Amino acid sequence: MRLLAIETSCDETAAAIVERTGDAGRPWAIRSSVVASQVAIHREWGGVVPELASRQHVRDICGVVERALVDAETGWPDIGALAVTQGPGLIGSLLVGVSFAKAVAWSLGRPLVAVHHLAGHIESIWLDHGRIPLPAVVLVVSGGHTNLYLVRAEGAYALLGRTRDDAAGEAYDKVAKLLGLGYPGGPIIDRLWAGGNDRAIHWPGTRLTNPDRNAPERDARFDFSFSGLKTAVLRHVRARQADLGSQSLPRDEVRDIAASFQRRVVDTLVDRTFAAARWHGARAVGIAGGVSANALLRREASARGAALEIPVFIPRVSLSTDNAAMIGAAGMRQLERGAVAPPDLNAAASLGL
Ligand code: KG4
Ligand code: ZN
Repeated sequence: MRLLAIETSCDETAAAIVERTGDAGRPWAIRSSVVASQVAIHREWGGVVPELASRQHVRDICGVVERALVDAETGWPDIGALAVTQGPGLIGSLLVGVSFAKAVAWSLGRPLVAVHHLAGHIESIWLDHGRIPLPAVVLVVSGGHTNLYLVRAEGAYALLGRTRDDAAGEAYDKVAKLLGLGYPGGPIIDRLWAGGNDRAIHWPGTRLTNPDRNAPERDARFDFSFSGLKTAVLRHVRARQADLGSQSLPRDEVRDIAASFQRRVVDTLVDRTFAAARWHGARAVGIAGGVSANALLRREASARGAALEIPVFIPRVSLSTDNAAMIGAAGMRQLERGAVAPPDLNAAASLGL
């Protein structure tokens, strides 16, 4: 069975064809995956402009879907089901994908499943690696989220912790902006890191001792906070600009600031994730979402996993950042449970998992 998946939650228009393999160890295969990025459009504004994003999705969606069909050598009659990102995300952007998917599902007479964007990121691990040992602790780290989940059974995600303020990717993007490095910040800082001294600056520590007011029953040890670090970088940059009497800092210094920032973010992510893994007796650690493309995070997580004898599973980079193949995987999972969307399905900007 082939499933057409569509993802338009933010600034990439994506479509993929995912196929059921019949192999229980590796249940899904990617026949095609097409991503049209809008980065060049939003770069000019230093971040995603929602209205520009939704208009561009409208322009791109037909071509992206047709390309996914051609790449997979698949015709419309071969599509057995559809999956679409229902939320969370930008409402105008989500509506383009949801409306398109509903129209296709109705005209083909095929079932449609509504997918949570983060379920897609989580399932990208299973899509790329097949079955992994359970229970697993999974970190989803992207531009909008930094969440830790405990997965005891496939497809069941229990929230262990999350960021109280900025997501890690958001902190990357904001720090890159204040350093004048461009957008999106994650890949740029990641590239600069290799040439910098990542111990050059010691940032003040962040310690969360109080429970989350919105979820007081949850263990505060596995929560994150990145806004204090972002402010520390801002203060440092402003102080250095005042010292030098200039807005622009020397290139080497910018590189060291970026590298030290990345070191702190990666160490925090790895420390909390493995603390949760040990506490819950996890037999595997998974890391997904845009920030999991980060080279230092991949390296440090693998090293920590090797030291603690906990295998680490991270999807390949093309499945880390937003794509529709991961939505196809989560859609397959839901379809197997019979969770089909009603014909009046609507997009939901702040959908809960
Ligand atoms: O998952 P994603 O593509 O979209 C969201 O769901 O948010 O994640 C995008 C985020 C951006 O903040 C981007 O700066 C960050 O992922 N990112 C990275 C890297 N590549 C993308 N952050 C750190 N290092 C990278 N190599
Ligand atoms: Zn994402």
